[in-house]
Amino acid sequence: MTQPRFADAINGVPLIPIIQADDPADGVNIARAMAKGGITSVEVVLRTPKALDCVRAIRAEVDVQVGVGTLLTPEHIRQSIDAGAQFLVTPASSPTMLAALLGCGIPFIPGVGCTSDILKAWELGIREMKFFPAGLLGGAPMLKAIGSVFQDVSFCPTGGVSADNLLDFLSLKNVFAAGGSWLSPASAVAAKDWQVIENLCREAVTLIQSQHLEGKVA
Ligand code: 3PG
Repeated sequence: MTQPRFADAINGVPLIPIIQADDPADGVNIARAMAKGGITSVEVVLRTPKALDCVRAIRAEVDVQVGVGTLLTPEHIRQSIDAGAQFLVTPASSPTMLAALLGCGIPFIPGVGCTSDILKAWELGIREMKFFPAGLLGGAPMLKAIGSVFQDVSFCPTGGVSADNLLDFLSLKNVFAAGGSWLSPASAVAAKDWQVIENLCREAVTLIQSQHLEGKVA
């Protein structure tokens, strides 16, 4: 059992915005706005009862790579793959979840928050991980320090990532992408203001392209 290369699943822009929607139609509109803004991969989080319906609807209607996040159990993994997930993201790691992810057959990143978490995943051959919550855990300087020890591990920081610090993270050589919720503010979703989401995504993608960082996962 090995980890399929996660970067292959998000081939394109190294940014994975979160989609949290109560209604699949809203999920589709959010994903469509993100795609129009230049986003190539989205992560639907399992934090609403309709999240898996959102995954099915987005897979059917929007030309974007769809992952599922906030997975806490092996059952979540199975349900997400059945719904059409193309990659998986967990907020944290456990022996049970790492084994289930390694056997799931699609790209994944387990969540880690400290060097001990990283070592446990590394011992299993995992080399791509989510660092969460990155902002509270020391941000880009912490990831840089981790990079001196875990030289073959690459991270996707989430949690506290924003337009203000995005480039700090993406310019690190051990960061292959970043994720977060700032590209789909709850207020815009509540108001069904999809243009706000499209604009935020376009700004972030333009920022990445301006620094020639768009090829990080290509
Ligand atoms: C995640 O699941 O990665 C986090 O909820 C994202 O955190 P943020 O809301 O601070 O972007």
